Amino acid sequence: MTPRKKRLFTGLQPSGQLHIGNYFGTIKPTVNLFLKQEGFLMVADYHALTSLKKPSELRANIIENTKDYLAVGLNLENATLFQQSEVQEHAELAWVFECLVSVPFLMQAHAYKDKIAKGIEANAGLFNYPMLMAADILLYDTDIVPVGADQRQHVEYAREAASKFNSAFGETFVEPQERIQEAVAVVPGIDGKKMSKSYGNTIPLFAERAEITDAVMRIVTDSAGDFPEHVYAIHKLYKSEEELKPLYEEYRNNYKTLKELLAEDVDAFIKPLREKRKTIDEITVKNVLKEGAQKAREIAAKKMEDVRKKVGVTL
Ligand code: ADP
Ligand code: TRP
Repeated sequence: MTPRKKRLFTGLQPSGQLHIGNYFGTIKPTVNLFLKQEGFLMVADYHALTSLKKPSELRANIIENTKDYLAVGLNLENATLFQQSEVQEHAELAWVFECLVSVPFLMQAHAYKDKIAKGIEANAGLFNYPMLMAADILLYDTDIVPVGADQRQHVEYAREAASKFNSAFGETFVEPQERIQEAVAVVPGIDGKKMSKSYGNTIPLFAERAEITDAVMRIVTDSAGDFPEHVYAIHKLYKSEEELKPLYEEYRNNYKTLKELLAEDVDAFIKPLREKRKTIDEITVKNVLKEGAQKAREIAAKKMEDVRKKVGVTL
């Protein structure tokens, strides 16, 4: 028998307008993995519901972020792209796992602890979040979960859920491994802090030319120094250091020109993707998600049937 191909599974929260930090940190490496390997890319809308309470915004984010993934070239031959809420087995299996793990165990989760430490009241959904994520991953016999370092612990929780279930009810779930995407350093925002939508310091991934220029011109430079480090840090994402060194030497004290060159390079990179994105309409998005959900549901339903039998609810 030929060995089963390793299956990828990852999820992205539909959190609205993407910036270049999201792209270089997460989206690009994920899209690249799906060039060679098969698996699932899930729009984690029920995860987003733990913090997003505006229906029109959640709906728009699901559509817009799906467009983004298609525009940056997600390979649909290898990747099944689907919406979490469309496959009800995720919420169902999460419940089964919640009945297996203890409250103190869930209280160890960093994401939960961080919110509490910041004084944010956690809803029960946020508390149970790791078990929903475990269900996402385990329903599909996933081998590898590509995620950012901040999600490592959540994959450990998934392994724990698999192992708890397997020892209580017999071998059912594959124990997945995380693959941490840490090749790209944190992308700085135009103020030099980590680029983040919550800091309002982003360069939007699909920005039009004027918007790019506007953001790049606002990148903070230190007037006392002779090197615009934040401009350079962003420029490095688009050009090699060999290409950049002579330019930054030539225009050593001319930050305006260096920023103009950066704006040009950002625009040259994004223009084809921006144009492609404009050709993707809502109907296409819905069709892709619908087809993806059908494929996902088939696998999830089979797994859940087995789970129901094993826990004793199938008569
Ligand atoms: P934001 O900080 O804008 O709210 P999210 O927390 O929604 O971004 O991040 C989504 C994904 O993008 C995460 O996997 C995160 O690691 C990655 N990411 C976000 N900001 C950056 C950044 N500045 N540099 C690199 N990766 C980033
Ligand atoms: N929790 C992940 C995040 O916030 C998103 C996610 C949901 C996910 N389900 C997943 C990632 C399953 C990997 C596998 O980034």
